[in-house]
Amino acid sequence: MRAPSDPDAAAELPAALIEVLKDSTEVVALTGAGVSAESGVPTFRDAQSGLWSRYRAEDLATPEAFRRDPALVWNWYAWRRSLVQAVKPNPAHLALAALERRISGFQLLTQNVDGLHRRAGSSRLLELHGDLFLTLCSAERTPVETWPEHGDAPPRCPRCEAPLRPGVVWFGETLPEPILSSAFALSAGCQVFLSIGTSSLVQPAAALPLCALESGATVVEINTEPTPLSEIADFVLNGPAGEIVPALLQSAWPTG
Ligand code: OAD
Repeated sequence: MRAPSDPDAAAELPAALIEVLKDSTEVVALTGAGVSAESGVPTFRDAQSGLWSRYRAEDLATPEAFRRDPALVWNWYAWRRSLVQAVKPNPAHLALAALERRISGFQLLTQNVDGLHRRAGSSRLLELHGDLFLTLCSAERTPVETWPEHGDAPPRCPRCEAPLRPGVVWFGETLPEPILSSAFALSAGCQVFLSIGTSSLVQPAAALPLCALESGATVVEINTEPTPLSEIADFVLNGPAGEIVPALLQSAWPTG
């Protein structure tokens, strides 16, 4: 893969990869924070900015942090929602939404909670770690759409007065079962598995490409850095998702 700034990213894709992709219809893509990086959304491994710079994401996205300081955690997610609302999907998000329209067997799995895949037009989408814009009652774990604003953070559930929480999976929490088993079933049944912009460090999502590999799929990694998956993937494309994913779409699935 040439330098990320090179406009001929399509010309640099391995011919053997395009050969495999162009006849594939059962394609699964798993994305991580790297797919939103070019939209301006910091990744988990990026240092946090501004007044949140003294906190690590791993120390805030936990049930313990919410118990210890619910206002801090609620305000951190409010900050992340405002940050994401101010940015827009980038060419990688848009190319994945276009791919869904071009092949009926395409399925997108994301670890991201930023909602940018939906805003780009993806609908065959499983959000493994939840959604920043979903709010739950922390006691009932049921969605809450509206609540009386009394200025307190976090607001209270209108039904039972428990504090509200973001509808995301925190460290130490389990992923919703139907979504997780669907993600493994899709990974086991696909011909091609694209791992895009994820450090492949966090389970159980990091096991999905291994499941695909063991089931005979071709595994392709797209990342600006090596990851634990790089050693075993069939193809490793080093560069920004915002250039490589559109190039893959153009070269392997050129028309819808
Ligand atoms: P990370 O921050 O761990 O990894 C982001 C990956 O994207 C890294 O491997 C970067 O090299 C890569 N990257 C950065 N910019 C890129 C670009 N422009 N194009 C392609 N790749 C790029 O984020 P995730 O792997 O998503 O879980 O983290 C997985 C999970 O860890 C998150 O969902 C979160 C966190 O714990 C929960 O909150 C439960």
